[in-house]
Amino acid sequence: MPGLAHVDVLGTDRVTLDRLSAQGWAVTSARGLEVLHFAPAVAALEHPSLAKGVSFQRRLDDLGITEGPARDDWDRMLVTTEGTHRRALRRPFAVLLAGPQVKRLTADLRAIIEGVLDDIPDPADIDLMADIAWKVPARVYCHLVAAPLDQAPLVAQLSDRTLAPILTGDHARRQDSIDAFATTRDFVREHLGRRRREGLGEDFASIMIRQQIEGLQTEDELICEGIALLQASVDNTVHQLGLVLGVLLSDPARWRSVVAEPASIPAAIEEAMRLAPRFNTVFRQASAPTELNGHALAAGDWVFVSTLAANRDPERFPDPHGFRPDRRMTRALQFGGGPYSCLGQTLARIELQEAISAIAARFPALRMTGDLACHVTNAVTEVTRLRASHGL
Ligand code: HEM
Repeated sequence: MPGLAHVDVLGTDRVTLDRLSAQGWAVTSARGLEVLHFAPAVAALEHPSLAKGVSFQRRLDDLGITEGPARDDWDRMLVTTEGTHRRALRRPFAVLLAGPQVKRLTADLRAIIEGVLDDIPDPADIDLMADIAWKVPARVYCHLVAAPLDQAPLVAQLSDRTLAPILTGDHARRQDSIDAFATTRDFVREHLGRRRREGLGEDFASIMIRQQIEGLQTEDELICEGIALLQASVDNTVHQLGLVLGVLLSDPARWRSVVAEPASIPAAIEEAMRLAPRFNTVFRQASAPTELNGHALAAGDWVFVSTLAANRDPERFPDPHGFRPDRRMTRALQFGGGPYSCLGQTLARIELQEAISAIAARFPALRMTGDLACHVTNAVTEVTRLRASHGL
């Protein structure tokens, strides 16, 4: 295609991304169009003819989950669908996770996080992933749906076992992903049944059940919503929390500043997520002949928004590699965008803010011990090691 450079594969290497980004707003690759600049990335995410459902199906195809009950289940979930069924699934989910409903949980979330910090075995040697990041989102999920807190380790495991192989393309874990999906479905079905028997309250499981009773969704859609809430709310938040902690602790001046000025924490988190997003690429496919930034796409063409590149577009973010929490920026792209944007972003932001505030208050002299280790794939980054020490 004239005007755009071509690469066989777009990697995640920073030097290459910067070089390509300096040459143009996008490159073509063997798989499609790779968008590198911020404005066309937003245009792609908001484009009505660029669909997401089929892109999640593609990930399932790539992993070899192509048929059988597991694929049938997946094909009824929000992330794989389009059109009327998608609207039927997304509407009640959006109501469930709407700002005011989520914000009233702030104090509860803080208490959950304080409880996690109370359990840290040795402040002089904290495994920030195992001791904090892997615990908080799963306990928050249990609290949201009024499930017993002792189910949190199982919940964390189910979310990771299901999603990680699909998002990282780990073929060795294909069957485990299928098995974990089935266990998640049983877990959600049993839990919703228990909530019905026990009598409904104000928790998210009760709200979802009422949505079904009031005809907002069918029983099957209710189960899909319950499964999606478990899957989406845990794994992504675990790794984004690890990445934010990594960015803030990698420079002691950053940590000192969030400790000294708690009011700066939301902006510091936003900036850390810009620099180190959990999702490195967001996928779309053209459902009809489409034009993106003057570039013609045929129906069926693939578009890949590189969050890694677009979040550091110097046109949008001057000094793009610098940690500058004082930027007056519109939000970067770590939660996707447009009609498919992350439904849990308000909750995720509150979780991250309460977690960083609580950790900064409890461990003001926290310092990283050793390097942050990550498993970086085209689609996502997983934090594999992050340790820190307080008090030595
Ligand atoms: C910091 C943690 C999180 C990150 C980085 C994250 C990121 C994302 C991204 C990039 C997408 C795809 C957006 C797109 O295609 O444009 C997404 C979708 C989604 N997220 Fe999140 N997410 C996080 C936490 C959560 C939480 C806590 C929940 C639920 C409570 C949640 C629920 C969802 C749902 C339901 C979707 C699918 C939306 C759709 O397909 O219409 N996420 N998330």
